[in-house]
Amino acid sequence: MSDSDHAHPAAGAPTPNLWSRDGFTGSNAIALRNDYTPTYRSVRGPHAPHRFNLLAIETQDQSDAEALPTPVLVARNGLELAVSHRRQPMPYALRNTEGDELHLVQSGSARFVTDFGTLEAGPLDFVHIPRSITYRIDPLSQDYAALILTSPDPLRFDTPAPFGMINFGKAVRKPSIDPQGAPGTTRLCLRTFDGVTEFDMVHDPIRALAQVGGPPPVWALNLRDIVPVSYGERGGPPAQFLSTADTDVMAFTLSARPGPRPPVHVNADYDEIILFAEGPGAWGGISEPGTVTWVPKGVTHHGPVEDVPAGYQAWLLEVRQTMRLTDAARQHARLIETSEYGYQD
Ligand SMILES: [Fe+2]
Repeated sequence: MSDSDHAHPAAGAPTPNLWSRDGFTGSNAIALRNDYTPTYRSVRGPHAPHRFNLLAIETQDQSDAEALPTPVLVARNGLELAVSHRRQPMPYALRNTEGDELHLVQSGSARFVTDFGTLEAGPLDFVHIPRSITYRIDPLSQDYAALILTSPDPLRFDTPAPFGMINFGKAVRKPSIDPQGAPGTTRLCLRTFDGVTEFDMVHDPIRALAQVGGPPPVWALNLRDIVPVSYGERGGPPAQFLSTADTDVMAFTLSARPGPRPPVHVNADYDEIILFAEGPGAWGGISEPGTVTWVPKGVTHHGPVEDVPAGYQAWLLEVRQTMRLTDAARQHARLIETSEYGYQD
């Protein structure tokens, strides 16, 4: 693939190259280069930019109700992204004892039955289930698909101001407890780094009468209800809406917003994972909902224009851990060029 295939918009003019620490929040330095540096001819080794569509991943839970979601990107500390295509209700209650879970529903809908109430989630809804909250998922459609982040450190809202980006009173939905609810399963599965430990309980561990203390720990929020931060025509980084206290994980909306294209850049500290959730506009070389891109830290990249008048919705994850594709993802993953995120070959 030649440089001309991914010509810089200002081909012929020197290009700023940004090196940045700590994602969008640390120090940075910019060099002006004559060459358009993101392009590469070939690559050997695992630390290379890829894309795959989560709708194409063959998950165990689409044919086996007992199965857990299928990991697609994993790190050494247990940070994980997994895909679910669950078709049948979970026949057990589950607690993830290793981390907080953030589910992003790509398609279809499901009922989440949790320790602190039940809520329904549909396309582009996030559902946050903190560590060791008990839950069951009942799919409400036959096209249910979700991308699930597990973070060893707690995830909490981290918006740049108390209001403006997210209407916490309206957009953030809380589950409700049905005190008349019938008893459910007494199978309780605790998920740990080395598998699942199953308890045969005397009672349904989830059924409750009311929440009588503390704020509800489980919530849902739609990606479309998170307002992208823009600097107008000047351009600037996105702002996170969710992070861990140590910023090991930072989550952003990367949906369409005004402003110029980002600079050619190298992230010193973060792997960058983006889910293109829906159009109608295309984001560079990507127009298929469910497309996940992964650009590992240290890889020079440019990234498509975000100022797309037709609009699109995307979720950006910055993670300090170095991620790797699993075998299940590798079957569908292809190398991308690092300008518009089209296929490299
Ligand atoms: Fe980037």
